[in-house]
Amino acid sequence: MKVDLSYERQMQEARRAFAASSVFKEFFTPLLDRKLLELFLIYFSAAKACFVEPIADYVKRAGDRCHELGYEELGNYFLHHSDEEEGHELWAADDTRRLVEFWNQRREPKLDAKEFLDSNRTPAVKRYHQLHADIVNGGAPYGELAIDVEIERISVKVGPSLLFLSLFKLGPRLISQLSFVRKHVQADIFHNTVNVKVLKNFVSKNPDTLNPLVDAGKLTLDVYHGFAKECLERTRERFGLMTASSRGKG
Ligand SMILES: [Fe+2]
Ligand SMILES: [Fe+2]
Repeated sequence: MKVDLSYERQMQEARRAFAASSVFKEFFTPLLDRKLLELFLIYFSAAKACFVEPIADYVKRAGDRCHELGYEELGNYFLHHSDEEEGHELWAADDTRRLVEFWNQRREPKLDAKEFLDSNRTPAVKRYHQLHADIVNGGAPYGELAIDVEIERISVKVGPSLLFLSLFKLGPRLISQLSFVRKHVQADIFHNTVNVKVLKNFVSKNPDTLNPLVDAGKLTLDVYHGFAKECLERTRERFGLMTASSRGKG
């Protein structure tokens, strides 16, 4: 039997399972409550402000480690690419503040953006940071590229659905507050195309790196799935409390 050695092929099943997860199926439905979606976007933006904060440093570290191991070309790519990830946490934090302000203009109970931003170092966010730390400090630091490929692929595949759903449910004024998702959907179409080419080229020159790359890619999907699930659970829990207290007042 001929074994397919391409990274893309080997990721197909895991990507399919990720996309078919009940977390996304339950979420991307026209029946979704508007207020719950808006609250989710606040939790999501606040969590993203912590999620992406150390990524530029991890990419730089991957670059240095690749140089140490003799992967000069990929090391240079990481060092060049790390600048692209600089400061994205500020977009997400600004979105959180703007979304809360917009909520407070129209909805009850009033929310405090600081509370969301102060509690954003969640278990799923820590797990994502740990994944980067394990990869860049381990024996296969080039796995950082697989993390990047999968995360940017999620931006490109799931980001537009989130924007359309938000537009459909909450209107254009709310969409204008979602700069983090919008900018990533736009930029990551290009980034992802380049990253996939770089990965393919790297594997063709270093075939023994394929399995560690696939392992890193699959772990990334698992960790991101946990992150999405956690955002939804935190949202539903808070939404349940809001609904219960407004019923109590009636
Ligand atoms: Fe980013
Ligand atoms: Fe990107």
